[in-house]
Amino acid sequence: MDNSHSLSHKIEKDLKMVEDHLNSIKIEEKIPYKKWFEIFGFIYGRKNAKPRLFIITALIYHMGYVILAEFLEQVDVFFILKMKQFQKFTELKESIDKKFDIAFNSKISIFDFILNFLNQSTKEIYMRLLFTILTELMENNLPVLYRCDFLMQNVLSPIIRHKSGEFYTPPFLVKYMVKESYEFGASVLDPSCGTGNFLIEIIRSILSTETTKSEKYRAIKNVHGFDINPISIALTRINVILLSHNLFENLAIDLHVVDALFDDVNDLKSNVDLVIGNPPWYTLRDIELIEYQKKVKDLAELLEIKPLPKNILNIEVASLFFYRLKEYYMKTNGEIFFVITKGIITGSHASRFRNFKDFSDTVIWSFDKTIEKIFNIDFICLYARKSSSRWSNELVIPNYYHKIMDNNLEITYFSNLSLKVEKVIDFIPYHIEKKGNRTYTYKLVPKDSIEEIYPVKPSYYKKLFHKGADLNPRNLIFVNYENINSNLAKINPDPRIFERAKAPWHRRVFKDEIIELKYIFKVMKSTELINFHIYDSYQVFLPLDAENLEFNYTKLSENARKFYDTINQIYMNTKKETTKNKSLMENLNRWSKLINQRQLSPMKVVYNNSGSNLYSAVVKGKVLITGDLSFFVTQNESEAYYLSAILNSNILNKQIRIKKSSRHIFKIPFETPIRKFDTSNPNHLKLVQLGMEGETIALQTIKHAMGKSKMVLQKLVRDKINSILDQIDELIFKDFEFSVS
Ligand SMILES: C[S@@+](CC[C@H](N)C(=O)[O-])C[C@H]1O[C@@H](n2cnc3c(N)ncnc32)[C@H](O)[C@@H]1O
Repeated sequence: MDNSHSLSHKIEKDLKMVEDHLNSIKIEEKIPYKKWFEIFGFIYGRKNAKPRLFIITALIYHMGYVILAEFLEQVDVFFILKMKQFQKFTELKESIDKKFDIAFNSKISIFDFILNFLNQSTKEIYMRLLFTILTELMENNLPVLYRCDFLMQNVLSPIIRHKSGEFYTPPFLVKYMVKESYEFGASVLDPSCGTGNFLIEIIRSILSTETTKSEKYRAIKNVHGFDINPISIALTRINVILLSHNLFENLAIDLHVVDALFDDVNDLKSNVDLVIGNPPWYTLRDIELIEYQKKVKDLAELLEIKPLPKNILNIEVASLFFYRLKEYYMKTNGEIFFVITKGIITGSHASRFRNFKDFSDTVIWSFDKTIEKIFNIDFICLYARKSSSRWSNELVIPNYYHKIMDNNLEITYFSNLSLKVEKVIDFIPYHIEKKGNRTYTYKLVPKDSIEEIYPVKPSYYKKLFHKGADLNPRNLIFVNYENINSNLAKINPDPRIFERAKAPWHRRVFKDEIIELKYIFKVMKSTELINFHIYDSYQVFLPLDAENLEFNYTKLSENARKFYDTINQIYMNTKKETTKNKSLMENLNRWSKLINQRQLSPMKVVYNNSGSNLYSAVVKGKVLITGDLSFFVTQNESEAYYLSAILNSNILNKQIRIKKSSRHIFKIPFETPIRKFDTSNPNHLKLVQLGMEGETIALQTIKHAMGKSKMVLQKLVRDKINSILDQIDELIFKDFEFSVS
């Protein structure tokens, strides 16, 4: 259920008025605001932590009181808000605090200060805002225990929540996970509890047992929750009261506002039977503060899950939760059960995570696409037990595929769905690699598919293929041109690149500019690559010397320099603050992929770095290669066609399909033993011939189908090269078999 749009729309005008008032009194200079900024600037990002967010967080917090007061029904809170009785509201809040001590954590008390900064008219507007949100809750007819969840997920925008990974777990999944893992009386911890979805479900299950009140009480006292966000903890506290109020008048569970990765709650050390929850969904890349990023990196190292440097920015913070909680809080033989992104099974950033060091009995739950859609990212549930032995012997992880029992039900976040297991398939890593004292466990794949792929044996060519240059932002440099004379050309942005352009690089920022022709370069991208051929190219403005690709600003011709200055300025003004490049050129030449002699070679073999299938072609002439392709340079034409034949083969394509994580292909083709080209090997010579034939067929087919879409062109070519591909497979099969032995 996403009513964020309608709700944010409804409160926008009032929000703006309170915001204007706070700005007019220079709220950002006041001490309570600064305290708020310190806490919430860290949680939601300093850029987002503005007076507007201050009001929104205060509203959510105060709404917690409204929900509680409404439930306890001692006063008509609806009426108080409707009549904008500010004084009555603060009295009500004070009386709730006296009784339940919601603001038990000092960090939360900052919100009461906001009320002190409001003047008479904005006090009334603030009451109206609370009234609008309460009305929305009522209109949605949400059970009382879903209201705090709804608040956090709908009053706060997804962009803000992304910063703290606040994407909650739908109740049906919480229920199912708790049912399968919680045992009455166990010591249980949700280390990132949000508004307490898991904790509430556990307490609900405790309350529903046929046990005595004191047994229930003891079991509930064994339920613990952490969250970094003080509002979440306050709302969890409110949810616990709402749930248990009938039996226990004022029940408090053990809740802590802490950073679960770095703060230690000593009482729980090695004391937890079950860690359950849904740790935050963000990666190291998303962390704004460099010092915190470093701390997280160091922790990944300590926990022995730090990936190779090239993958480090993609490491999931949730994966650190998994190991840190095991390390510090879990008892030996204790269990952990997390909702986590699917990237954990497939991504190279998680290759050391997949060692499952000190874990045993690992199990995956995966879900039907319709269920997956509830989160925007593919997710799984991951279960494991803390083991007494350091390494599990052989990694076989059963994957339980779940479906919805009743297909007719509407699937929303709050739907009461029942799940069933459709099938169970064992997963194993397709390779385990040792580098020094580190172990890297490759992607987990269905055990049966292992027979269809070659064991990993790096090819001679692995290090010889290189990624092309990421020529971004495209809207600044991809051009169409018209010759003005033999030296000059008129350029306009290439309309093709706007089909996929994303903000802020989706604007046409120049028109009818004049530059010297010699700065226009021909480049090839993967978007036009089909089997054996790239059927179209692009023109790009680059302030480089065409002979040697040197960048010498002072030597640039006048028009080119002026144009470069313009687009460089646009780049510097538009790029993210965190992007450290000092100029557009620095960005274009990232990792020296552009200003590089390889790019000048007149013969290259290319393949696509991502996508569902692998394609390759031989590219000749003065062409630059973009970063969505990898390429190899050779002066030996036969070697080029030999490689192109292999890289277009069905055998390699199958390896890719099984092994690749998400859409990334990169170096996977060279995990197979493609041998060094050998002119004395008849198989290799036959492959050269087939590669050339493939190209001829592709060229002829394309000639008769100009203007058709890539999908159509690819299909037309594919239909004609089937027998070639079969022959290539046969030859590869012989050649690889031979070299594997
Ligand atoms: C995906 S939500 C899960 C909330 C709840 N467990 C659920 O499943 O509905 C992640 C939660 O982690 C919290 N969080 C983010 N970083 C944290 C940290 N370092 N320590 C503790 N909690 C954190 C966020 O505030 C958010 O409430």
